[in-house]
Amino acid sequence: MRLAKYLARAGVASRRQAEVLISEGRVEVNGQVVEKPQTLVEDQDKVTVNGSLVENVESKCYLLLHKPPGYISTVKDTHNRPTVLDLINGIEARLYPVGRLDADTSGILLLTNDGEMAFRLTHPSFQVKKKYLALVSGIPNRESLDTLRKGVAIENHHTAPAGVKLLERKVQINKALLELTLIEGKKGQVKKMCRAINHPVVKLHREEFAGLKVGELPEGKYRFLSEQEVKWLYRLVKL
Ligand code: URA
Repeated sequence: MRLAKYLARAGVASRRQAEVLISEGRVEVNGQVVEKPQTLVEDQDKVTVNGSLVENVESKCYLLLHKPPGYISTVKDTHNRPTVLDLINGIEARLYPVGRLDADTSGILLLTNDGEMAFRLTHPSFQVKKKYLALVSGIPNRESLDTLRKGVAIENHHTAPAGVKLLERKVQINKALLELTLIEGKKGQVKKMCRAINHPVVKLHREEFAGLKVGELPEGKYRFLSEQEVKWLYRLVKL
């Protein structure tokens, strides 16, 4: 974040006043006087004004939620439906979901107040991997699965190559369990892809996002990412 913004967020001064303090040479970052308000600083940097340390007010927070069906992935809903934030208690940080899962989809959803991280994790150029389990209607044949692998036309987009495995044929109920690994995240992508091969999704669960797994975490519960996991995400999105 820009130094002037950092100081303003910490309540030291308004952004304009912070710029003045900086240009007057009264601000140091890690022991060095910095005179450009646009200088970028990170949470771990030590910032002082007139020699006093500036406390970092909003530290970064990263949560992994096992989203149950029935919750929407927004901060607030205009129709007062339950949102994923209703599942989080006692956390001061202004969290928002990293990307979206449909209301009826379950599985891993990250929440953070780190805007840059959220932006990168959802930006197509980073090709972040997502793994889904999709229960589909009917049992797709090899040709249909190959079509999904190579890419299908959904609306005006041709999907990127995807990993597709047929995990289980549920012959008795005429359904199949597929595992799909995508590097894109168009809205409703899995459902649209499966509809395109005439095997609509009956139930959808996201098992993995950016190499992080929902694992044993019960539905509706969340946990903080470990320091190692956060470092892994930083490396993944080149932050
Ligand atoms: N694809 C979908 O169709 N829905 C989701 O919730 C996620 C991916």
